[in-house]
Amino acid sequence: MTDETLGPGWERAAALDDVPEGEVAGVQVGGQPVALYKVEGELYATHDICSHEHAHLSEGYLDGCEIECPLHQARFDIRTGQAMCKPATGPVAVYPVRIVGQDIFINLTPAA
Ligand code: FES
Repeated sequence: MTDETLGPGWERAAALDDVPEGEVAGVQVGGQPVALYKVEGELYATHDICSHEHAHLSEGYLDGCEIECPLHQARFDIRTGQAMCKPATGPVAVYPVRIVGQDIFINLTPAA
């Protein structure tokens, strides 16, 4: 589902209630695995697959604005996607997030 008021590239990712405070939820958006996070009332979205090997960050441990990969415990800043420690060295993609009514929308289009 897309939202015409947001413009191209925006797709519904989840309902607001699907992402409780301090938690991470794994969803599929446009065929992509995406992790949604809520920290201190702010919503964030990253690609759900670790940049090290194939693990879902949404199954990891969220500590403030850092997500710890469940497989080898690399940590990523969910605001920037940057890897904070090894074994991951590359970032994960981050996506813009908007709220429309009771729904969370993200834009998978890479930032210019
Ligand atoms: S798969 Fe995430 S740290 Fe190895």
